[in-house]
Amino acid sequence: MGTPKEIFLKDYKMPDYYFDTVDLKFLLGEEKTIVNSKITVFPRVEGSKFPLVLNGDDVKLISIKVNNEDLKEDDYVLDSRHLTILSPPTGSFTLEIVNEICPQNNTSLEGLYKSSGNFCTQCEAEGFRKITFYQDRPDIMAKYTCRIEADKSLYPVLLSNGNLIEQGDLEGGKHYALWEDPFKKPSYLFALVAGKLASRDDSFVTRSGRKISLKIWTPAEDVPKTEHAMYSLKAAMKWDEDVFGLEYDLDLFNVVAVPDFNMGAMENKSLNIFNSKLVLASPETASDGDYAAILGVIGHEYFHNWTGNRVTCRDWFQLSLKEGLTVFRDQEFSSDMGSRAVKRIADVSRLRNYQFPQDSGPMAHPVRPHSYIKMDNFYTVTVYEKGAEVVRMYKTLLGSQGFREGMDLYFKRHDGQAVTCEDFYAAMRDANDADFANFLLWYSQAGTPQVKVTSSYNSDGRTFTLKFRQEVPPTPGQAVKEPMFIPVALGLLDSSGNNLGLSSIYHDGVLQSISDNDQPVYSTVLRLTKKEEEFVFTNIPERPVPSLLRGYSAPVRMETDLSDDDLFFLLAYDSDEFNRWEAGQVLARKLMLQLVSDHQHNKTLVLNSKFVEGLRSILTDSSLDKEFIAKAITLPGEGEIMDMMEVADPDAVHAVRTFIRKQLANALKAEFLAAVENNRSSAAYVFNHPELARRALKNTALAYLALLEDAETANLVLNEYKNASNMTDQFAALVAIAQKPGETRDTILADFYAKWQHDYLVVNKWLALQAMSDIPGNIENVKNLLNHKAFDLRNPNKVYSLIGGFCGSTVNFHAKDGSGYEFLGEVVMQLDKINPQVASRMVSAFSRWKRYDEHRQNLAKAQLEKILSANGLSENVFEIASKSLA
Ligand code: ARG
Ligand code: ZN
Repeated sequence: MGTPKEIFLKDYKMPDYYFDTVDLKFLLGEEKTIVNSKITVFPRVEGSKFPLVLNGDDVKLISIKVNNEDLKEDDYVLDSRHLTILSPPTGSFTLEIVNEICPQNNTSLEGLYKSSGNFCTQCEAEGFRKITFYQDRPDIMAKYTCRIEADKSLYPVLLSNGNLIEQGDLEGGKHYALWEDPFKKPSYLFALVAGKLASRDDSFVTRSGRKISLKIWTPAEDVPKTEHAMYSLKAAMKWDEDVFGLEYDLDLFNVVAVPDFNMGAMENKSLNIFNSKLVLASPETASDGDYAAILGVIGHEYFHNWTGNRVTCRDWFQLSLKEGLTVFRDQEFSSDMGSRAVKRIADVSRLRNYQFPQDSGPMAHPVRPHSYIKMDNFYTVTVYEKGAEVVRMYKTLLGSQGFREGMDLYFKRHDGQAVTCEDFYAAMRDANDADFANFLLWYSQAGTPQVKVTSSYNSDGRTFTLKFRQEVPPTPGQAVKEPMFIPVALGLLDSSGNNLGLSSIYHDGVLQSISDNDQPVYSTVLRLTKKEEEFVFTNIPERPVPSLLRGYSAPVRMETDLSDDDLFFLLAYDSDEFNRWEAGQVLARKLMLQLVSDHQHNKTLVLNSKFVEGLRSILTDSSLDKEFIAKAITLPGEGEIMDMMEVADPDAVHAVRTFIRKQLANALKAEFLAAVENNRSSAAYVFNHPELARRALKNTALAYLALLEDAETANLVLNEYKNASNMTDQFAALVAIAQKPGETRDTILADFYAKWQHDYLVVNKWLALQAMSDIPGNIENVKNLLNHKAFDLRNPNKVYSLIGGFCGSTVNFHAKDGSGYEFLGEVVMQLDKINPQVASRMVSAFSRWKRYDEHRQNLAKAQLEKILSANGLSENVFEIASKSLA
């Protein structure tokens, strides 16, 4: 393999040819599949003469015809990745290609492959070229038909995009189905499924009165577990009508669940294909977290029908155009279905724990990347989650109404088109006549902006001043950055904790009114656009405590000069629930960093009693939402703390977090016990906010109690495990028990496996729990699990549970003897031969190696070098490994 080629956004060129219609025929066989593709082609510029270059990967050409005539050998060139037709006819023509593929041997799970005996597809980003030769790029949008022929007894169900227009029996025990999709689509949205499947059937009546048939397909025995997915789908369809006025556009919507899938799910037009983990749930086998994930992802894929399918991306650099927007939409959907504040807290935690580290590491890239080697490597937390934050900022700046007007204009302008992030920006701007300053920098500059705030109060002038200073750190390929446009939502609290009325601000020496019809406002949004900037609030009667960046109004790291007292005050009184949680987190982060330093200097660790009291009052405040309490009493993750250190120290961070948790368990034992007693599930499991909030609080308390050494709590935790009537409670108790090495842990883990060995999704939880464990020397256990009959390197979910889980364990993955790194290095090389996308996700665990001490750096670097020198390395792993070393 030569050095893989890097592709650049700046090199984007419009295609020379477009495709109008695509008629596909599949003969699905046990050894091989024959694909016949008939395409009508027309030139972009009438009369132009260019070669037509088609992509193809692992496809065997059988024949090729242009305008019904076989092409001669020297009319085309075939290399390992392309089929080039040297001089096609001038004007429109038809192209007919027959090729052979081998889905049975396709372990990459990209293109057409087999999962548990069924055929299925995954074409995004560039998988369609593994099915047939095609201009495999999203700006080629065509109308498809798809005829599938297969053995009737092995593959009774035959599905593709759009409407079923014909089906029937054929000779030799075969049958066929013909599907037609009336909407133009890019090839990445093509899908085919064939197999033994049963469906849960339901329907949805749209607001214009059309009845849509809904089907969720799984193996027959799993159909009972699709009730929640169906509920989620109908809720999503209703929500998109209510909030965005968007209605479904076909008469049929299919969802298929498959056990072998690289990612979460895929929004193929009217035939969504899902990782079964995001479809199947029952109270006995799935936790509240699984139920919430299913709701969010069913929503996400459904919402793509408008944001992604009807309006798609011009090129893959624009991925966030559909993903950032659709994540934002699914976040809002989940907020409306549950608690807005808690959902925001969960999303911001995710951003901090995963996206911030990416944005400050060697794989840092802008929301719209400038280049890639393998697009699959850019389905990242930056493109998705930071992209969603960028969309959220439009809404913060424009308000709900203005944002909706921007969306309406976006669809009005671009329905049926493949467009760019600028097109979205322009629609938001033009619909509102808005001044967005240099907002577009959010798409092109990588790195998390750092914002420092200082405040001062002038009692004579009754003014309150906030000074902001922003800095965007350098990232690979971007040494110097420009200041960004940062919306800062805020309010000012008076001494009794109420929001002060705000009426005017001096900004750059100019007095601006911020009142609303002469009435003061109680919160406002400042627009930072410069490196340094000052805002002076007038008519402020006393020194206020500012509540800054309310609702996390911009994806930045903010550092303030607030004292601990100010933070405790915000924790107790802020009207913005998100910022109440945030104040507690700022305090916890400060405390943890201080204790980490004490630990490193061999000082005795002492926990600040004010912190304990702050948490006690949250824990006992009956006016608060219980899920909010659960979040507020949870310490920032170890990754988040390591990310804030000069040199990340896994052992010290783990020791300190454990120390604080044990101290809290002791000090708040009575409160935790009460939280458990008062929040047990009473009746049958229901997934709704009040019920899941009770479980969240009870189980968070239980995890603290399980750290105590007395027999009474040990018994309590054990009984919670034994008496649990749903997976949420049962697994939470198991997690609590598994924190402590010993006989109980071993017995209960074995008991759990014995109970659930028939259910692969539950077994995956069991694998992950053990893999993530921080108990000393756990690597041996993980190595044994690699050979356990429940494990299979070919199944991505199992890899993510066991290998991914292990990489998340602070102390064992980063073990000083290098055993964790060596283990991952070995696995990545084996995995790369089976499934490069999955291998590439696993190798990413090394990408932050420079953040650790020199000893660890050398160990991790050696593994990366070894991987890079392997024969036949995939482009996927090459890109991550080489960029990590650069
Ligand atoms: N578009 C899918 C989603 O809903 C993800 C596809 C991921 N594909 C990949 N090759 N990484 O987010
Ligand atoms: Zn998506």
